[in-house]
Amino acid sequence: MKRNILTATVVLSLGMMSAAAFAAANSGEAIFKAHCASCHPDGGNIMKPKETLKGLKDTKKIIAQVRKGGGGMPAFDAKAISDVDAKLLAGYIIKTFKK
Ligand code: HEC
Repeated sequence: MKRNILTATVVLSLGMMSAAAFAAANSGEAIFKAHCASCHPDGGNIMKPKETLKGLKDTKKIIAQVRKGGGGMPAFDAKAISDVDAKLLAGYIIKTFKK
């Protein structure tokens, strides 16, 4: 009986840990920090200060820029950032960098 409780506790805590890891890996913020924040800290642009991420509203345009890059920005294909993650990322940018 004691052993069952122990097993249940271990299984439960492992489950909670992987749920947390899953959420972090798939949040727009985590994707942004991993791939974009080096050049776009706080939604700015260290290479072209006028080309910021502030006030962007169009998910498709953001995803298009991510996929094709250009102007000094690298392209990110679906292996680097999946379609699902690209949408989360665009949503995070729109919601976070308003001005
Ligand atoms: C190596 C630096 C670098 C990285 C990394 C980078 N960018 Fe950029 N980004 C740039 C540069 C430089 C431009 C300006 C391009 C131009 O002038 O055509 C830009 C432009 C953009 C634009 C267009 C802004 C506008 O006003 O239209 C978007 C959107 C964008 N980046 C999103 C991202 C996202 C999302 C990521 C992460 C997946 C990312 N960038 C990663 C350098 C970078």
